[in-house]
Amino acid sequence: MKVALVTGASRGLGAVIARELADAGWAVAVNYASDAQGAANVVDTIRQRGGQACTAQFSVIDKAQLVGGLETIRKALGPVDLIVNNATGPQPEMPLMEQSWRTYLDQLEFFVKAPLELLHAVLPDWRARKSGRVINIGSEVAELGNPNFGNYASAKGAMLSMTRSWARELAPEGITVNLVAPGWIPVERHAGASQQAMDNYLAQTPLSHFGKPEDIAHAVVFLASSKADFITGQKLALNGGRTLL
Ligand SMILES: NC(=O)c1ccc[n+]([C@@H]2O[C@H](COP(=O)([O-])OP(=O)(O)OC[C@H]3O[C@@H](n4cnc5c(N)ncnc54)[C@H](OP(=O)(O)O)[C@@H]3O)[C@@H](O)[C@H]2O)c1
Repeated sequence: MKVALVTGASRGLGAVIARELADAGWAVAVNYASDAQGAANVVDTIRQRGGQACTAQFSVIDKAQLVGGLETIRKALGPVDLIVNNATGPQPEMPLMEQSWRTYLDQLEFFVKAPLELLHAVLPDWRARKSGRVINIGSEVAELGNPNFGNYASAKGAMLSMTRSWARELAPEGITVNLVAPGWIPVERHAGASQQAMDNYLAQTPLSHFGKPEDIAHAVVFLASSKADFITGQKLALNGGRTLL
């Protein structure tokens, strides 16, 4: 059984991506930093459906923890074949003059540094096996350039460019790297979103409705599958047509 690591899978999109990968036959490491109960619930659900999974507690922005976490996963499930870089910390919005370099670095730690350090940890094994997949979870904001969000938007933009560079460099070794770019997909943390904010968003969405976490998970399952063997360096936008141009 091939092994997938989904970072930040104790809730939100990551939890659903983990469940859908398990349904598709992957053994899944459900990473989280603090919500042990949430991660355990995801693992329980996977096992109840007949799948294989384990929890994997480590902060993706701490290199020592991350390396230790991969070793724990190797012992529990086997070496990782697929990394889904999904984890995110807080995503504060603020006017430009309140944005400091630190607020940019905070986002880059999740969307560039953590994926890089995870890749470094698995790459010797992937090179030896001439296989391996990375799926980065980006965002439509990299293209839309939402105001008050330069910290987050620029880190997601960097994640997209990194995806393309890694894809070219690793293609000769049979390793693919792709990015899924969701629009606003309501998850637990959006419970308090105002009706006004939702209406404004949908007014700019050609399909006129919100996507579901399953929409994102199905795209990840596809890109992880052998049906996507010939796809690398791509961005798949899942946002109801908001970035058509
Ligand atoms: N939902 C959307 O509308 C949307 C739209 C575009 C892009 N995205 C992207 O999709 C991804 C998931 O977003 P989401 O909305 O599902 O987020 P979320 O609900 O806030 O979940 C974030 C996950 O990351 C984990 N996490 C936080 N800090 C961590 C750390 N240091 N190490 C490891 N895990 C950590 C959290 O677990 P713990 O609490 O246990 O640490 C949680 O499982 C993100 O990359 C986000 O930028 C989401």
